[in-house]
Amino acid sequence: MRPFLTVYGHVCLDQIMSLDRFPEPNTSVDILEKHRYFGGTGANIATVAASLGVPTALCSFVGPDLPPDFRCFMEERGVDLSGVETVEGYETSTVLLVTDSQENQVAFVYQGPMRDMGSFPMNTTAARDSRFVHISTGRPEHYLPLMEECRRLEKDLSFDPAQEIHHIWDRDTFRRALPLADRFFCNRNELRTALDYMGTNSPEELLRDVSTIINTRGGDGSLVFTGRGTWAVPAVRPTRVVDPTGAGDAFRAGFYAGQYYGHGLLESVAYGSATASFVLEARGSVTNIPTWEMVEDRAEPVLSRLPG
Ligand SMILES: Nc1ncnc2c1ncn2[C@@H]1O[C@H](COP(=O)(O)OP(=O)(O)OP(=O)(O)O)[C@@H](O)[C@H]1O
Ligand SMILES: [Mg+2]
Repeated sequence: MRPFLTVYGHVCLDQIMSLDRFPEPNTSVDILEKHRYFGGTGANIATVAASLGVPTALCSFVGPDLPPDFRCFMEERGVDLSGVETVEGYETSTVLLVTDSQENQVAFVYQGPMRDMGSFPMNTTAARDSRFVHISTGRPEHYLPLMEECRRLEKDLSFDPAQEIHHIWDRDTFRRALPLADRFFCNRNELRTALDYMGTNSPEELLRDVSTIINTRGGDGSLVFTGRGTWAVPAVRPTRVVDPTGAGDAFRAGFYAGQYYGHGLLESVAYGSATASFVLEARGSVTNIPTWEMVEDRAEPVLSRLPG
């Protein structure tokens, strides 16, 4: 099936651990609890989008150790993995997230093959046939030429560097990337860094380079900036907030599902809010994935309050 959406980003194993207190150098401590979750922005967005019925392809680089159950998990939900390249000599990207009893957190990030993706060839096979291309985490050396190619292919392109905007991208690379995109996704902190890179205080000024900005603001919902105006779309209340990780990725998946089912910009953002609300209710980024019908039900009250 032709993909509607092609997502570029990480496929990552999240190892979540808790301990009493962080060890001093040259000492050891017992891990009290340890869980492995499937993660990575690329895998999260693609898996949730495919689960909502959107024909979705994923492009990423992994090691030969990618667990077969992770691959199956994505495939069973319909993600086209033909653009996921196995690179010998690396292990799959891994994040070790460690929390102590005071709720302090430290993270250890192993990029795996994604660190060197600048020297790997780009794969545009799925992107060519897609309506939307979504560029999430990964290296500018790989993504800038890819974004130029998507531009040449006249693809509708979203740029979403996520937390990597702060340390993987910089003023120069960000300024080159933004005008290549049609849409920029960011959370509160990411917007602040984007404004800093562009040397302005006003999101509206970024609209000189990109036609739409979708700025998520946690429980406060999201702001949508376009040349036609700025709108606030409320969040959808989850029954309870158990774990915020993956909310942003689920939001994006819900947005594309809205587009896939023929809805407008603000409606699609509302579907994003509704999708995120489910993922907040369980630990992990791809647990508690709703069906499209469940998303439609939860989005209903927000849709009825949207402007015009
Ligand atoms: N506490 C919350 N209550 C309701 N909705 C929420 C809450 N937190 C997040 N969301 C939903 O998820 C969307 C994305 O959240 P947020 O802006 O925190 O993204 P993020 O910081 O990128 O998250 P992530 O941790 O997944 O990277 C929000 O726009 C909102 O719709
Ligand atoms: Mg995020």
